[in-house]
Amino acid sequence: MNVLLVGSGGREHALAYKIHQSKTLEDLYLLSGNPGMRSLGISVDMNLKDYNAITKFCFDKKIELVVIGPEQPLVDGMSDFLRENGIKVFGPSKKAADIEAQKSFAKNLMVKYNIPTSGYVEFNSAEQEKAFEYIKTQKYPLVIKADGLAAGKGVLICNSVADAENAIKEIFIDKVFGASGDKLIIEEFMYGEEASIFAITDGKDFICLPSAQDHKRIGDNDTGKNTGGMGAYSPAPVVTKEILSFVEEKIIAPAIKGMEKEGCKFVGCLYCGLMITPEGPKVVEFNCRFGDPETQAVLPILEGDFLQLLYSASTGALDKNAVTYSNGSAVCVVAASKGYPGAFEKGFEITGLDSIADDVVVFQAGTKESEGKVVTNGGRVLGVTAITKETDLKLAKQKAYAALTNIYFGGIYFRKDIADRAINRI
Ligand code: GLY
Repeated sequence: MNVLLVGSGGREHALAYKIHQSKTLEDLYLLSGNPGMRSLGISVDMNLKDYNAITKFCFDKKIELVVIGPEQPLVDGMSDFLRENGIKVFGPSKKAADIEAQKSFAKNLMVKYNIPTSGYVEFNSAEQEKAFEYIKTQKYPLVIKADGLAAGKGVLICNSVADAENAIKEIFIDKVFGASGDKLIIEEFMYGEEASIFAITDGKDFICLPSAQDHKRIGDNDTGKNTGGMGAYSPAPVVTKEILSFVEEKIIAPAIKGMEKEGCKFVGCLYCGLMITPEGPKVVEFNCRFGDPETQAVLPILEGDFLQLLYSASTGALDKNAVTYSNGSAVCVVAASKGYPGAFEKGFEITGLDSIADDVVVFQAGTKESEGKVVTNGGRVLGVTAITKETDLKLAKQKAYAALTNIYFGGIYFRKDIADRAINRI
């Protein structure tokens, strides 16, 4: 099978690594990938919005499956255009991607289909006075979210009325999130431990991949600013068998059924961000694609044919046995540029990538090639992932940090406590 993979981050490197292991893969094309992915496929350069050119490329190269990694091309409608031209796609339609692109849509879906989540209200920008009044009557902390996509930055935790006033001002008046802030939602704060579950679905049936936990804050012990994710591990022991059954039955199944009933069948990876609260699991957010960096920890511990799983989902006949998970664990530590998630410098040479142990994979994200060298080109630069055959997160953590001692670039920064929450629980 010839496959086109869209995207260039750590998540897409992990997708390429896993697709590349499939016996049914003939050629993997990357639109356009990063230097780390280029040993796994053939990089092609096209404008992500030039759907005619991408379609023509798919016909020319006899592409049997397009896998779309990031949310933006999904939200822009890439999968709709390709499907209309008879090309199979792993990734939801524009309408189904609203589950991530419009938080109010996701919340309304959850209420309508009885999916546990926090209480909320929504306001559009014409109702800002009402929003300012509403926050004076609420308990704190309180969560205020821009309705649209905001690269993980649109969630504001407010500890006081003054914080909430600032949040509303940022979203509605200062327009910090542009049109994504034309509407906002105000939610109850949820207490508990977070976990991520990926459900692979053909629109009707689904399977869950092993659970994971992200580390969103920049500093050890979950301190400092929010980031795109500073590391992840899988499986997450907080997701017990009982919790997983609950999530499958009360969250994922009704969400997939609800999307179909609403006329926006979801085909792809439904990312379920959960809070495991004292009252049980509740949804923090749904996303329309694989999570990053969680994918870098989840995919390496899967057995079987991952490409077959994605392909079968795209055909509407999900092969639930294409992949299995029996044992094993992975810890991914993100190496970032100093200053991230704020301003940072780029262009530092990355060394040590050639001396990586067998049970470690270095997924590249913010990198590029310059004069024959791999250099830093983004905030999150690498995802250093160690894998163990048995489920042993302590060992996986040791191996990931041991690998990092050999890797260097100017301003390298990483958290030292990835997976500690799980290790300290065991
Ligand atoms: N790790 C969070 C996300 O992918 O949205």
